[in-house]
Amino acid sequence: MKIFSVLVLLLLLSSCNAPETKYISFNPGQEWLDNNGIHINAHGGGILFHNKKYYWYGEHKIAGEVGNTAQVGVHVYSSNDLYNWTDEGIALEVDESDSKSDIAKGCILERPKVIYNTKTKKFVMWFHLELKEHGYDAARSGVAVADNPTGPFVFIKSVRPNQGYWPLNVQEFHKRSVSDTIKNSYCGGLGCLPAHVDSLNILGRDYENGQMARDMNLFVDDDGKAYHLYSSEENSTLHIAELTDDYLSHSGRYARFFANRYMEAPAILKNSKGKYYIIASGCTGWAPNPARSASADNIFGPWTELGNPCIGQDSLTTFHSQSTYILNVQGKNDAFIFMADRWKPENPIDGRYVWLPVYFENDKIHLKWTDKWDLSVFND
Ligand code: GAL
Repeated sequence: MKIFSVLVLLLLLSSCNAPETKYISFNPGQEWLDNNGIHINAHGGGILFHNKKYYWYGEHKIAGEVGNTAQVGVHVYSSNDLYNWTDEGIALEVDESDSKSDIAKGCILERPKVIYNTKTKKFVMWFHLELKEHGYDAARSGVAVADNPTGPFVFIKSVRPNQGYWPLNVQEFHKRSVSDTIKNSYCGGLGCLPAHVDSLNILGRDYENGQMARDMNLFVDDDGKAYHLYSSEENSTLHIAELTDDYLSHSGRYARFFANRYMEAPAILKNSKGKYYIIASGCTGWAPNPARSASADNIFGPWTELGNPCIGQDSLTTFHSQSTYILNVQGKNDAFIFMADRWKPENPIDGRYVWLPVYFENDKIHLKWTDKWDLSVFND
């Protein structure tokens, strides 16, 4: 009898251990547990595929008011099947010892993305960085490197991109002198600019000290060239900028698109026809808004807007979420997953993930809500 009770107790105890959740589908908007039974903590994330494994990097959020500031760093998870994720720890830690560091604990570190450089054999992470206690004024980009996909990543520097370079599609008026009022007019986002940002020439204002860079993404093209896409010019205009061969700096070749459209959260894909697509959001902070889409035959444009890619119910709020990345599913043709965040500003750690398949129809892309789906949708 005694042995029996001990056995029952042991059985009970083992079932109390973190459950081995085996997912066989995506469940957009639901809690998504890692191998330890804990909701995945990788917000504003992106994916790297390396040596047959996917790595998911994202903002590690915490509970409560300060949860949207960087108290911990960038979290990384790994997966073989995209449904089940193993916690690989903190890939890049914020600096706890030096409050003057660019990435001091309490800074804002958003939308980290990682790419692999085949020449240097380094993993390169870029992210949107705002300096501690300066709100969203700094509008900088940080870069860190590692020898392994799970880190540790070492912070190298933060920059305002393309300092002293004009974009490929610069217009003459940008090069005219900028008035002192405009020079001192850092205002931090939507609401403080007129509808026509070009009348202020924010690009010209920031020419000497580097362009503003907030919501961002990275993209490696088939020829190995990497690009940094970021919301610039007080979020009014998207810049697409080439990185140097080591991916650690901006090469100075860049172009500006969607002027005055206030596009944020840019995500990009290139399909097997060689067409590039961007999905982005409007500019309403943590609140969702209708997504935008655009396509181009060349990464440096011209880009053509295609409208809101979402169809059906909740299409005006991007299904209550905001884009963060478009993931290329390996081993299948033109299989892409739209990844988005359902932010919870009151309790950021509980933010949910919305992953949906991307459908191509007549040279446009569409996103449709589905409660549950799996990779077999890409077999048709
Ligand atoms: C969003 C942006 C997020 C975060 C937030 C802060 O528009 O996409 O990454 O910066 O604003 O309010």
